[in-house]
Amino acid sequence: MALSMNLLFLVLIISLSLAHLCFADGSLTPQFYDHSCPRAQQIVKGVVEKAVAKDRRMAASLLRLHFHDCFVKGCDGSVLLDSSGTIVSEKRSNPRRDSARGFEVIDEVKSALEKECPQTVSCADILAVVARDSTVITGGPSWEVPLGRRDSLGASLSGSNYNIPAPNNTLQTIITKFKLKGLDIVDLVTLLGSHTIGDARCTSFRQRLYNQSGNGLPDATLDKTYAAQLRQRCPQSGGDQNLFALDFNTQFKFDNFYYKNLVASEGLLSSDEILFTQSSTTMALVKKYAEDNGAFFEQFAKSMVKMGNVDPLTGKRGEIRKICRRINH
Ligand code: HEM
Ligand SMILES: *[C@@H]1O[C@H](CO)[C@@H](O)[C@H](O)[C@H]1NC(C)=O
Ligand SMILES: *[C@@H]1O[C@H](CO)[C@@H](O)[C@H](O)[C@H]1NC(C)=O
Repeated sequence: MALSMNLLFLVLIISLSLAHLCFADGSLTPQFYDHSCPRAQQIVKGVVEKAVAKDRRMAASLLRLHFHDCFVKGCDGSVLLDSSGTIVSEKRSNPRRDSARGFEVIDEVKSALEKECPQTVSCADILAVVARDSTVITGGPSWEVPLGRRDSLGASLSGSNYNIPAPNNTLQTIITKFKLKGLDIVDLVTLLGSHTIGDARCTSFRQRLYNQSGNGLPDATLDKTYAAQLRQRCPQSGGDQNLFALDFNTQFKFDNFYYKNLVASEGLLSSDEILFTQSSTTMALVKKYAEDNGAFFEQFAKSMVKMGNVDPLTGKRGEIRKICRRINH
């Protein structure tokens, strides 16, 4: 009798803690859609693979969307909202105007998921899974994506302008902006390794090519031959939208060439190169990753999960949007 009471008690404790795991507010879990939409991740992956096969740069654009989402009001899908009613879209902010892309791919993922399991998978979670898939498709590491984020009921244009670091910010400013999101220097140096894929426009780094201390010369931390090449297609005026690979060595491959480039004074953005030139802490990490791709990959997976945990809406907060570009009502 005593034994079976003990057993009963044990079973009770176990089921209570399981229930806690499944329904806990505020914590994300990779199993979140296992019952409500078991094929969700498979469906996302299919759409992303197709989109990247059509346009190789798309992997980079999609990875960046998750970053921009998480840095403005947390990972809540606010990056995706168009303007309507009282909502002012973040799409017109400085970091995004003429720059952020991939919204049509997210639309396509969302409509495929709505067919499979209506109003179940959030747009914020879609962005997190799509970022992981984009990394894997281009040759980077994989990780399990914690899920259960819900979608915001609004956007923040000012948040987009102020919270997302600019390419000409000082290292201290950038470190502070990451710290405000609970991300440390290791996360910063590691997540910037995303610039191993994708492009930047001339206007994002022109300042480095012509105006260093007002003397018209390229930034002294820029390799001279590389600077001369960049100047050819990024003139002092005009050509603002001309595109340049963030990692000119292996533009479409997710690898550690980004860090090798920084060591060789061939980082494209000022915000990239200063990781190597302005602090011994960040410089040591850049050197380590330049020499050890495995160390980079391992930490990248961890830091992406950490970034994906920035202030999600969970439980009953927010909503599950039907269309990622607008709130339900
Ligand atoms: C200090 C922080 C960062 C700064 C200043 C920064 C800045 C930029 C800039 C200026 C561009 C080019 C935009 C353009 O000219 O159109 C860019 C592109 C990109 N960024 Fe960042 N970024 C930062 C951190 C991150 C992080 C944390 C990620 C991902 C986790 C990321 C992923 C990307 C990707 C993949 C692209 C290429 C996008 C494409 O080709 O469409 N960036 N970034
Ligand atoms: C950074 O770039 C922006 C946009 O081009 C410019 O308005 C601003 O003056 C620059 N800031 C610094 C410190 O150079
Ligand atoms: C260079 O700096 C001068 C004055 O500091 C400014 O008037 C000019 O617009 C700048 N040029 C570029 C290409 O940023």
